[in-house]
Amino acid sequence: MKPIVAPKEQQPASFAFKDTAKVKDILSRYPEGRQQSAVMPLLDLVMREVAAEGKTGGWIPEAAMNEIARLLDMPAIKVYEVATFYSMYILRPVGKHHIQCCTTTPCWLRGSSEIVKACEEKLGIHMGESTADGKFTLTEVECLGACVNAPMVQINDSYYEDLTPARMKEIIDALSAGREVPKGPQNGRKCSMAVSGPTTLADEAKKAGVG
Ligand code: FES
Repeated sequence: MKPIVAPKEQQPASFAFKDTAKVKDILSRYPEGRQQSAVMPLLDLVMREVAAEGKTGGWIPEAAMNEIARLLDMPAIKVYEVATFYSMYILRPVGKHHIQCCTTTPCWLRGSSEIVKACEEKLGIHMGESTADGKFTLTEVECLGACVNAPMVQINDSYYEDLTPARMKEIIDALSAGREVPKGPQNGRKCSMAVSGPTTLADEAKKAGVG
């Protein structure tokens, strides 16, 4: 999917890292001459610093990619290539709560279309749009690797799994009101254990009369 990049009028003229000690720390993780490998954590740091300003959720302005290119002494196009390849790098302003709905086959089979509908109804926006108050953005994404707890969404850094449309709406209400929402499975199961409770292969073998 082609990444959505902010238009010129939304791009700040310049960017400078605020936490220069963190930048130094990131660079120090790589051997001399291999600092260009720091491009990914630096892109991530940009998103966190932009989000911390509090005006939008985390995103990466073009000026920040140019700054990373300068810092790492590499062509800007190489930074753009990395930033546009991975969907975790956001290149346009988004809401403070960026809801990324997984609609790939396992989530779809478990009702992701209903989760998307619940988000759209509750927020009054469609996929790819943001609410007027800047609180929420809805994005469709491919498998986020939590299929065992489908359907699920990612909101900023956290996964919300085993969703129902009603629970999805409650989560949006809670985030909107600034309340904490428990992350992970929303149906009471622990991590990805069986919904019916813990099982072991030995138990199953016994039940089948072969243990
Ligand atoms: S299909 Fe949704 S997490 Fe894998």
